[in-house]
Amino acid sequence: MYKISELAKQVGMSRTALLYYEKQQLISGQRLENGYRIYTHKDVQRVRLIQQLLAGGLTLKECKACLETKLDRGILKNRLDALDREIEQKQSSRNLLAALLGEGELKTWHEKLNKVAPDIHTDWLINQGFEEKEALRLKWLSKDMNEHDKYMDDFMRVFQGLARWGPGSEEDTLKALRHVPKPIRKILEIGCGKGQSTRVLAQNCQAHITAIDNEQSALDAVSEAFASINKTDRLTTNCISMTDLDYPRAYFDLIWSEGSAYIMGVENALRRWRPLLVKSGTLVFSDLVWQTDTPSDKSITFWQKEYPDMQTVSERRNQIQNIGFKLVSDFPLSTKAAENYYEPLRKRVKALNTNSLSVKAYDDIEHEIDIYTRYANEFGYHMFMLQKL
Ligand SMILES: C[S@@+](CC[C@H](N)C(=O)[O-])C[C@H]1O[C@@H](n2cnc3c(N)ncnc32)[C@H](O)[C@@H]1O
Repeated sequence: MYKISELAKQVGMSRTALLYYEKQQLISGQRLENGYRIYTHKDVQRVRLIQQLLAGGLTLKECKACLETKLDRGILKNRLDALDREIEQKQSSRNLLAALLGEGELKTWHEKLNKVAPDIHTDWLINQGFEEKEALRLKWLSKDMNEHDKYMDDFMRVFQGLARWGPGSEEDTLKALRHVPKPIRKILEIGCGKGQSTRVLAQNCQAHITAIDNEQSALDAVSEAFASINKTDRLTTNCISMTDLDYPRAYFDLIWSEGSAYIMGVENALRRWRPLLVKSGTLVFSDLVWQTDTPSDKSITFWQKEYPDMQTVSERRNQIQNIGFKLVSDFPLSTKAAENYYEPLRKRVKALNTNSLSVKAYDDIEHEIDIYTRYANEFGYHMFMLQKL
């Protein structure tokens, strides 16, 4: 038998709270002749059960119904689902704190943070002392601060040996170019890589091209290619970041970005690049999109890690309109565009991957090629041609 103060001590609650429970008929003490209420061990158990149910998200009224076995199963099921979601979020938060303390698995953490808060993720990496270029590479490629330098050395060893750094073809570039009103005087190409499309643009219009990339070795390759076709006077290269373009407003007739806008987020890129275009100027970009509304679990799992912001074509079309562009046209890149990229990449990794020891960067590239090969009908690159409104 417990007095109310003893019951309060047993269950770690205040006397006032227990009196409220009493008033709500959640517990019911036996009144003694001297006016005191006394409680049994069963009341202790009832209060403990109520505490657990409250922690599970039930209201006092629902707790009462539960104790009287009158609670609707549907309500309990909803609470259970909400609790599961809460636990999942808490687990995520726990992983985040553990990773910040240097515990736990970093790759998963980077993938998670990149999905939930991509811009904060980049800022956080920059605050850790990474240059923006390396922060972006860490976010998209190595996803591991401890292994980053080795990962990037291996990764660049693969790509330095390749002419094309993303899916694309001369035919697709020309097809998109046909939608651009002429004359074109000034083009800004963003994330030009080694200049596969830069060369096609130069050979098919008279514009001056400012080609930017944050990888100087790629820009050197573009300059060399332009020298070999005697078009050096039509090219300016700038080794700068696409996130910080310091050109005059309303300066370029055309902005071209094949497979690079995703790096700073497509929506963000379109918003930030738009002011650089002249009135009614054109922006052409290609991006990886879902080609089905029902992709397989394998593709979803892979792309949620590698490109969490991947959208369907109709989702991208909506975004484009909301940002102040008119969609002129769009089309899926040809199968040849994907082959132009994946085939040489496959051969290059195979040629380099001769050691029996596993190399993370090679494994990741091979994994992407494998996903592309097996699920190619579920996603692919898509070209969008927009006009500034
Ligand atoms: C997928 S590749 C596409 C290259 C090229 N457009 C092509 O199709 O071959 C992306 C390019 O963006 C460049 N890049 C990455 N981050 C960048 C940044 N912050 N600013 C400018 N270029 C960047 C990379 O160096 C690379 O050349």
